[in-house]
Amino acid sequence: MNYPINTAQHLTIGEVDAIDLAKTYGTPLYVYDVTKIRQTMRDFKAIFEKEDVPYVVSYASKAFASKAIYQVAQQEGIHADIVSGGELYTALSAGFDPKHLSFNGNNKSWDELTMAVTEGVGTIIVDNFLELQLLSEITTQNGVKQDILLRISPGISAHTHEFISTGQQDSKFGFDLLTGQAKAAYDIARQNENFNLRGLHAHIGSQIFDVTGFEKNAALLAETAKSWGFQPEVINVGGGFGIRYTSEDEPLPESEYADAIIRTLKSKAAEYDWKMPEIWIEPGRSIVGPAGQTLYTIGSRKDIPDLRHYLAVDGGMGDNIRPALYQANYDAILANNPNASTQEVVRVAGKYCESGDVLAWQQALPKTKPGDILSILATGAYGYAMASNYNRNPRPAVVFVENGKHQLVIARESYAHLIALDHDYMLKNDK
Ligand code: LLP
Repeated sequence: MNYPINTAQHLTIGEVDAIDLAKTYGTPLYVYDVTKIRQTMRDFKAIFEKEDVPYVVSYASKAFASKAIYQVAQQEGIHADIVSGGELYTALSAGFDPKHLSFNGNNKSWDELTMAVTEGVGTIIVDNFLELQLLSEITTQNGVKQDILLRISPGISAHTHEFISTGQQDSKFGFDLLTGQAKAAYDIARQNENFNLRGLHAHIGSQIFDVTGFEKNAALLAETAKSWGFQPEVINVGGGFGIRYTSEDEPLPESEYADAIIRTLKSKAAEYDWKMPEIWIEPGRSIVGPAGQTLYTIGSRKDIPDLRHYLAVDGGMGDNIRPALYQANYDAILANNPNASTQEVVRVAGKYCESGDVLAWQQALPKTKPGDILSILATGAYGYAMASNYNRNPRPAVVFVENGKHQLVIARESYAHLIALDHDYMLKNDK
């Protein structure tokens, strides 16, 4: 591989020296190349514009939510999907137009739904019968007519890790199609004067590498609407477009997934004599994943003769739990000389007190020494987003780089942050 370097042989990210970033902000450090993020957002839009179909690209912000990323999404004219009051609050704090938000989730609370309705969230993607009831009460109380989509469990199982596949029948998400619950929900939604039912939604899973599931999903949503005598204004096929983490992953270009969805829905609209519905997609991973990487400082190592070399870095499962949780694979490179030839295969481990605390299972690297900077690639999705304070480690900082410039977008947590919500124990054992 040929990684971008400068004259010092250091890795560059968005034309900025990665070693300088590590020195300036410390490690572990999440670094996002904003040029890449913008390019992917634009690429998604361009596919629909070329095909001249109405569309909404909605960034699934669960992949990485921060004020800065909502601001970039807004600048690029895309929408955002949120799944909690916390994401809603962050988006609003960022100045994101609430009309361009959609709200997913299988157990939205009264408070979250009230916040969404009163703040003017554009679309609520209703997931279940309780939510229909809560939303009916909240919209009545606030005198609001709310745009909604109904989330369907389509019974399609995309080939992906069991924990991140959401479309199969045995799923906690959405109204079940096979047992008639979706139709019952449709009847309720249509009869409610406070709801403007614009269409249907189904998401079939994440990190998907072929188009068949998306085609099936799009066709099924159209066929379902047709069978109810419903002409949808919106068909939302969710997200899930796979990315390359290591050379073993072979994702298709984004355009192939989107083209397959567009083709399917164009032909359904023609067959049913519908006005072409808006096609909504909700990519998360594909927008931020490849644009992010994490810089770590190399520390101790353990060499077990004839068995394994462990190389430890100053972060781990607290800033990236995906290898421990999903056996996910990443590539790592030596940021102070990324194109140096590799000399050994190591397991990159973190500093957390758990054997499963791994960042890269089998990584070929040049010889390294303590103090070298290692970059784990493609960590931009579900990395910082799923970070924790396990072992009372502060969460890392996040930096955005663009055109040779860099800016802190989330500060590193301090030890003081770690105890900010703690209280001294005052009750006495005086029985
Ligand atoms: N829309 C809905 C309704 C979703 O549930 C998801 C992801 C997305 C869109 C975005 O999917 P994406 O384009 O990012 O694949 N933590 C796991 C991934 C969980 C995905 C959950 N839903 C991971 O680290 O792989």
